[in-house]
Amino acid sequence: MKFFIDTADLTEIRSLASSGLLDGVTTNPTLISKNGGKFAEVIAQICDVIPGPVSAEVAGTEYDQIMAEARVLRKIADNVCVKVPLTPDGLRACRHLRNDGTMVNVTLCFSAAQAILAAKCGASFISPFIGRVDDIGWDGMQLISDIVEIYDHYDFETEVLVASVRGPNHVIEAAKMGAHVATLPPAVLRSLFNHPLTEKGLATFLADWAKTGQKIV
Ligand code: E4P
Repeated sequence: MKFFIDTADLTEIRSLASSGLLDGVTTNPTLISKNGGKFAEVIAQICDVIPGPVSAEVAGTEYDQIMAEARVLRKIADNVCVKVPLTPDGLRACRHLRNDGTMVNVTLCFSAAQAILAAKCGASFISPFIGRVDDIGWDGMQLISDIVEIYDHYDFETEVLVASVRGPNHVIEAAKMGAHVATLPPAVLRSLFNHPLTEKGLATFLADWAKTGQKIV
C-alpha cells in the first residue's frame, strides 16, 4: 500500500519525507488556503521534495476552465497530478488529460457509481472520501470495499486512493481490502507508530541494558 500525505505544509512534508514512508502528496484548496503561499510555488516546492505524484486541484468547474488550469498545473513539474472534481465536466477533462499522458486524480467521490465513471474516463486515481461518508452516518469503509471489488472485475488502470482518512483503523481496513493508496493527514501517519506495548517494552529493554554497563559503540 502506498502512503500519500494529505497536506500542503512543507515543514511537515520535509520532516515526514525523511521517514522514507511517503510515496506522494495530496493537496486541495482548503489545505492550500490553510497553509498560505502562492499555489504554483507551493506545489513546485512540494514536487522538489517528493518525487511521487503531487496532487494539485483545479478551481474551475467548467470544462474549458478546467483544461486551461490543468495545462498550467502540469507544467509545474513532471510529478504533478491534476486533481479534478467528480462532475461531468471534470470527467470529460480527465479523459482528455489522460489521453495526453497527464496524471489525473478524480476527487470528491462518494459512491461506487461515481468511481466506475472515473475509471471509465481513465483516471490515474479515484479519491473516495471515507471520513466524510462516515460523518453523515454512512459507511466509508463499505464504499472502499465496493470500489475495490468492482475494479477487480476489470482491467481499469485507476488506483483507489483512500481519502478523508481519520485514524489508524481506516488505514488498516483499507489495506485489508487491497486499496492501492491511502492519503493521510500528518497526525494520522504519525499515529500509526503508536502502541503502548512498544513504548513499555522499549523502556524495559533500555533499563535492563543500562544494568549491563556496556556500550555498543
Ligand atoms: C484528499 O485528497 C483530500 O484532500 C482529503 O483527504 C480530504 O479530507 P478531509 O475530509 O479530512 O478534508
